[in-house]
Amino acid sequence: MPFIHIPQPWQLPEREATSESAYLNRRRFLQGVVGWGIAGAALPLLGCQKQLTDAEQPIAHVKPLSAQKNPAFLEVGDRPITHELLAATHNNFYEFGGSKNIWQNAQNLPLDNWKLEVTGLVSKPRTYELDDLYKFPLEERLYRFRCVETWAMVVPWLGFPMNAILKDVEPTSQAKFVRFTSYFDRSVTKGPSFPPADFLPFPYQEGLRIEEMANDLAFFAVGIYGHTLPKQHGAPIRAVIPWKYGFKGAKSIVKIEFTDTQPETFWNTRVPGEYKFEANVEPEVAHPRWSQRKERLIADGSQFAWKEIPTLPYNGYGEFVANLYA
Ligand code: MTE
Repeated sequence: MPFIHIPQPWQLPEREATSESAYLNRRRFLQGVVGWGIAGAALPLLGCQKQLTDAEQPIAHVKPLSAQKNPAFLEVGDRPITHELLAATHNNFYEFGGSKNIWQNAQNLPLDNWKLEVTGLVSKPRTYELDDLYKFPLEERLYRFRCVETWAMVVPWLGFPMNAILKDVEPTSQAKFVRFTSYFDRSVTKGPSFPPADFLPFPYQEGLRIEEMANDLAFFAVGIYGHTLPKQHGAPIRAVIPWKYGFKGAKSIVKIEFTDTQPETFWNTRVPGEYKFEANVEPEVAHPRWSQRKERLIADGSQFAWKEIPTLPYNGYGEFVANLYA
C-alpha cells in the first residue's frame, strides 16, 4: 500500500487532532469543495506535503451531503471525534481483504446502478435506486463505535433512522426479524489478501430483531463527515447500530429482507461461540479470547498511539435501548 502521511500527535496542534472545532473547520472546508475526490485537496490541511494521486486517496468518490444535525447526538461527552483520515484508513471489510488496510482494494466497489431491494414479509416491497437513498430526510448523528476487536472511534454519520424503511414497506405481523445482505461479487471484491471462500461465508449478512430495527438509534448511514460514504466505509448505504458491536453494521447493503425466523449471520455462522446474534456491547461479558472491559480509541492522531478507556454497557446507549432487553 502507498505511504500515507498520518501525522503523529506531536505534529498536530491539539485542536486539529481531537476537537470538534477541528472537525467543523474541516467540514466547512470540505463543503466548499465541489464534486468528487475531496481528499486530495483536503490532505494538505493535515500537514501532508505530498499531493496524492487518485489511487492514493483514502477519501475518494464522495460528494458533499447536507443533513440536519440531530440535537440529541451532537456530542458523546467522554471522548473526542476521530480524525476522518484515521477512520478512513482503519477498516474491516473482509470482501476486500483480511487486514485493516483495505481502503484501496475497496475502491473497486461499483456504485453505478446500485439497487437496494426490500423484500420478504412486507405489504409494500420496494426497490430503491441510488438517488432514492439521498432523498430520505437526512440527519447527522455523532455516535460512539465499538468493534468487537476492542478498537473504537467516534464518527459523525449522515443518514436516516431505520424506522423510515419500516414505514415505507410496512412489514406484516409475521415479520419478526430483518436480514441485511451486503454486495458480493467475487470478480470485483477479491483483493491481494482475499480470504478463501471456504473460510468465510459470503455474502456478508447481518440481522436484527424487528423491535431493534424500530428503535430510534438504529440508523442507515449514507454519509460520514459531511459527504457520501467512502467505499471502504460501506458505500452507498450501511447499517449503524451503536449499542452493538461494529460487526452488526453490514456495509454496502443490496438487500433488506423481513423474515419470521432468526437469520443466519456472517460471523455467527463462522464462529458461533465467539460472535452472538445479539452482540450488544457488554463490558462484563468477555470474548472467549479477550476481555471486553476496555477499548482503544483511534482518536489520538496516530493508529499506533492508542488511548485505552473503559467500555460502557450498551456502548453508552443504555437509556435508549436497555428496555429492549428487560
Ligand atoms: N460489512 C461487510 N459487508 N463486510 C465486513 O467485513 N465488517 C464489520 C462491519 N461491516 C464488515 C461489515 C466489522 S467487523 C466492523 S468493526 C465494521 O464493519 C467496520 O466499519 P468501518 O470499517 O467503517 O469502521
